[in-house]
Amino acid sequence: MHEIHTIAVLGAGTMGRGIAHVAALGGFETRCYDPFPQACEKGAAAVARNLDKGVELGKVARADADGALERLDWYGDLAEAVDGADLVIEAVPEEVALKIDTFAEVAKHAPAGAVFASNTSALSITEMAAATDRPQRFAGMHFFNPVHVMKLIELVRGLETDDATMDALVAVGERMGKQVVRVNEAPGFVTTRINALIGNEAFRMLEQGVASAEDIDRALKLGLNHPMGPFELVDLVGLDVRLSILEYLHASLGEQFRPNRLLVQHVRAGRLGRKSGRGVYRYDEKGRRAD
Ligand SMILES: NC(=O)c1ccc[n+]([C@@H]2O[C@H](COP(=O)([O-])OP(=O)(O)OC[C@H]3O[C@@H](n4cnc5c(N)ncnc54)[C@H](O)[C@@H]3O)[C@@H](O)[C@H]2O)c1
Repeated sequence: MHEIHTIAVLGAGTMGRGIAHVAALGGFETRCYDPFPQACEKGAAAVARNLDKGVELGKVARADADGALERLDWYGDLAEAVDGADLVIEAVPEEVALKIDTFAEVAKHAPAGAVFASNTSALSITEMAAATDRPQRFAGMHFFNPVHVMKLIELVRGLETDDATMDALVAVGERMGKQVVRVNEAPGFVTTRINALIGNEAFRMLEQGVASAEDIDRALKLGLNHPMGPFELVDLVGLDVRLSILEYLHASLGEQFRPNRLLVQHVRAGRLGRKSGRGVYRYDEKGRRAD
C-alpha cells in the first residue's frame, strides 16, 4: 500500500480549503495551492475560523487545531506545492480540460509514485486518469460541502485504478475523520446523480406551480427527513454548478436529466445562490436568508 504523509490540495476555493483543513487535522503535512493569492488568503482565514469554531464547540482539542495550522501551508506556485507530495487532491473548477491540463503540469513536478485524486462532482475519473502518466494510481475522492462537517467521501474507482490506490485512499479518508464508500465509475457517482434528479424535479414542480419553494423545501425536510430542502441545497451548491452537472448527466445518461428551464433562467439572470446573494432565495451580505 502507498504510504501517504504529505498531501497537496489544488484549489483553495470552497472545497479545496475544506479538504486542506481535514487533511491537516488528520495529521498530514498539507500544502494548498491556488494561482490567485486572494483565494489562499481567504482559505487560510476560513480554515482558522472553522478550527476555532470546532474548539469552541468542543469538537476539536486546542492542541489539535494548533497542530493542524502548523502542518498547513499555502502556495502560489504549483511546482513547489506538489514537490515531494505523496498524494495530490485536485479541487479546481469543474471543467475537464482544466483538470486534465492541471494534472499534466502536476505530473512534471510530483514524485513518480505519487497518487492523484480528483474531487470532481461528476466528471469521468477514467478520462482524467487516462490523460496522466499513472492511471492505476488515480481515483476520485468526492468530498461534500462543508468538508470539515460532512462525514462522507465517495471513493471512485476508474477503469484502471488499482487496489493499492483504493486501499490507500480509504485509509487517508478515515484519518481525515470520514466514512468512505467505494463506487465504480458512473456519471455522477451515487450522490450527485440522485441529488441532481431531486433538485431538477423540485425546479420542475416550482415551474408547474405545484407548491412554493419554501413548501417544497419544508415537505422534503419534514416528510422525508432530508436535512435541507432541495432549494436550500442548490443555493448552497451554486445554481451554475448544478446546471453544469445536469448538462453532463443529460449528455451521458439521457432525457431524465434534461436541465429544467426555470433553473437555466435563474443562472442566466445571475441568480447563482448564496455566493451571488440571490438564488432561489435572497441572502444578505452575511449570507443570512433575507426573504
Ligand atoms: N461546491 C461544492 O459543493 C462541491 C462539492 C463536491 C465537489 N465539488 C467539486 O470541487 C471542485 C471545486 O469546486 P469549488 O466549489 O471548490 O469551486 P470554487 O470556485 O469555490 O474553487 C475553485 C478554486 O480553484 C482555483 N483555481 C482556478 N484555476 C486553478 C488552477 N488552474 N489551479 C488551481 N486552482 C485553480 C480558483 O481560484 C478557486 O479558488 C469542482 O470540481 C466541483 O465540482 C464541489
